Amino acid sequence: MSESAAAPATAGLPLRHPERGFVTDPLGVLQEGHRRNGPVFRMPVDGVETVLVGTWAGLGELFAAERGRLEVLNTPLVHDLFGRALFNLTAEHHGEARRRLRPALSGRALPGYVAPLLEVIGPTVDRWALHGTADLHEQVRRLTGAMSARVLLGISPGEADAARFAAAFEVFVLATGAPPGPARYADRRYWAGRSARRELHALFARRAAQAARDSADGTALAGLVAAFADAPAAAGPLEDHLLALLIAARETTASLLTWCLVELAGHREHAELAAAEARAVAADPGRLVARDALPVLRSVLAESLRLHTPNLLSMREAVCPLTLAGHRIEPGTRVAYSPSAGHFDPEVFPRPRQFRPGRFLAGQANASRLWAFGGGAHACLGRPLAELMALAVMAGALHKGLPTLPAGPPAQITFRPAKAPVDQLPFALESAS
Ligand code: HEM
Repeated sequence: MSESAAAPATAGLPLRHPERGFVTDPLGVLQEGHRRNGPVFRMPVDGVETVLVGTWAGLGELFAAERGRLEVLNTPLVHDLFGRALFNLTAEHHGEARRRLRPALSGRALPGYVAPLLEVIGPTVDRWALHGTADLHEQVRRLTGAMSARVLLGISPGEADAARFAAAFEVFVLATGAPPGPARYADRRYWAGRSARRELHALFARRAAQAARDSADGTALAGLVAAFADAPAAAGPLEDHLLALLIAARETTASLLTWCLVELAGHREHAELAAAEARAVAADPGRLVARDALPVLRSVLAESLRLHTPNLLSMREAVCPLTLAGHRIEPGTRVAYSPSAGHFDPEVFPRPRQFRPGRFLAGQANASRLWAFGGGAHACLGRPLAELMALAVMAGALHKGLPTLPAGPPAQITFRPAKAPVDQLPFALESAS
């Protein structure tokens, strides 16, 4: 090893990059920042000086160094609203809660969720085929809410609890937009959200008791109740974790679904190939969870995750000194990484701005090079379920017809809370004949 590789070459603060254009083209600004400065640079994000970590290798280094040194940066608002939810826990309490949550969300649990998910999806794709929809993104947000309620809480769309859950959840989601600091106390959304949280907790406790009694099928709830029955208080109550799962699932999965369907609408040749797989799924839904089945649908999923990664940034705070790419990061520093890191590297993904799912089919690219679900201590626990939901919705839709965007693709895009079209996006399924 050379001397310069052995010692940090550029100890001290990372270089500063101008944040100009970050609101309209955040990925472009991040990419340019990393092109000029390497894996680590400084930039104000929402007015706060932040160390940005990027590139595939940079994230690998970040995740290797994070334990005990970096904590998820959550605002007082997030702590109030989510209590002892997974992402508000630290150190061994966080690890304990993750261990208890994981089995119900893992690949092994998925076969039990296929039939209930297809039941939830059916009426929505029928409507798309018959009448289309005036706004694809809003529709998939609702569909994601209904799929999550079914799998995580055992609530079917026709039940009285479905409407109760949807109404209280919307009020809770609005509260997450209240000011993050002390000004939240003067915001009506905050107080309405606190009361919605109590309502949701009561609903979860009732459903949990029911699931434990009836050993309900096709829901994660019975397993989660059993996993938390003897959990130490420090691992947080199941009600807090359920609310966190429902929130973590919602905008992210809705974003992924929107972009999968938008890209299928824009690439008829892939849609036709994927439609053949969708017909096979209709005949044998088990294919949705068979590891080597549905290569085309899976390639569309991977390419959409690469090109349209739902989350823009994940925030951390340094709680102990650490070194990243040769720079010493002091405690109290805000650190952020982009789950898109490395997704536009032309050496790994040639013509990175183009939607080319074939790169994953031909083995030229590997989905393990994608950070869309994060990594390290806080890597997404819901990845298997999110991917199943996306595959099931794509297959359900393609079985009814080929996606079209009657008013064209989205003209304006927002990147937060997740990547999504700004304006309404008309969508329909066109009969293949
Ligand atoms: C396409 C859909 C999804 C994407 C792109 C996504 C992405 C992510 C990312 C990037 C993180 C890491 C955040 C960080 O580093 O701070 C994360 C964490 C998490 N995700 Fe997901 N997610 C998705 C769906 C889901 C679903 C469906 C669930 C649950 C059913 C879920 C549950 C969680 C939880 C609980 C965490 C926090 C883990 C922890 O703090 O230990 N996600 N997700």
